[in-house]
Amino acid sequence: MWPRMLRRAAGHNPAPGPTGKPLRPAMSDSATPPHPPIRSFVVRAGRMGPGQARALAELGPRYVLPHALAPLDMDRVFGRRAPRVLEIGFGMGDATAAVAAAQPDTDFIGIEVHPPGVGSLLKHIGERGLANLRIVQHDAVEVLRDMIPPASLAGVHVWFPDPWHKKRHHKRRLIQPPFVAALVRHLVPGGYLHLATDWQPYAEQMLEVLSAEPALANTAGPGHYAPRPDWRPLTRFENRGLKLGHGVWDLLFTRSS
Ligand SMILES: C[S@@+](CC[C@H](N)C(=O)[O-])C[C@H]1O[C@@H](n2cnc3c(N)ncnc32)[C@H](O)[C@@H]1O
Repeated sequence: MWPRMLRRAAGHNPAPGPTGKPLRPAMSDSATPPHPPIRSFVVRAGRMGPGQARALAELGPRYVLPHALAPLDMDRVFGRRAPRVLEIGFGMGDATAAVAAAQPDTDFIGIEVHPPGVGSLLKHIGERGLANLRIVQHDAVEVLRDMIPPASLAGVHVWFPDPWHKKRHHKRRLIQPPFVAALVRHLVPGGYLHLATDWQPYAEQMLEVLSAEPALANTAGPGHYAPRPDWRPLTRFENRGLKLGHGVWDLLFTRSS
């Protein structure tokens, strides 16, 4: 069953990839005004469990798409036409797999740089037999810029992006005006942008940035956070925050023009 949003309906300087090598900008975003690249992640060391490693070896070739400097032919990748939703930073992928299983008529592309997370989501794909999910293991800023065709996404999920608590790290937060403008360009008209965080100052930044983007409309009304849609599962990171007594803020905006 599609969420109601679906039924109704990145522009960047070359940022370094996980290898640190700058990549040239794709044609679609060549007119984007310059701004400092966002480096929103650190690739953490993390041991891949044997099940994750097996899933990577057996399912990686089919479900992990290499980063490329050309737009994805999504109809070819998924072998059908369907609404497409992009998820940025899926972590261990538990929520991603649950959503893909609950919405078989939608195709999902999950982006994550953390290798054990990629192994973990592949394991879910194998266990649940998910045909409507693909993974790109690369910086989402570059994937959006290089691989996602403009106006092609029915939705974007950014659930619990790294909060980068310290002031000197705020520039590493993903949700900043140029990246949001890039996300919007990749949405179909009426497509949705769904953010969630358990860090109030970041929630406030998200609300400010999204509200200032002229092509977005707040489904909850100006200045308001959205209720958590019943189709969004609790994520692993969210659960950790809840145990620490954190609140949770959802934001649900649609592309209005
Ligand atoms: C705080 S975790 C949240 C994971 C998951 N969404 C959850 O709620 O459990 C943020 C994740 O985003 C990933 N990430 C951050 N910046 C990224 C980027 N530019 N491209 C891809 N993944 C990114 C990190 O590796 C990390 O796993």
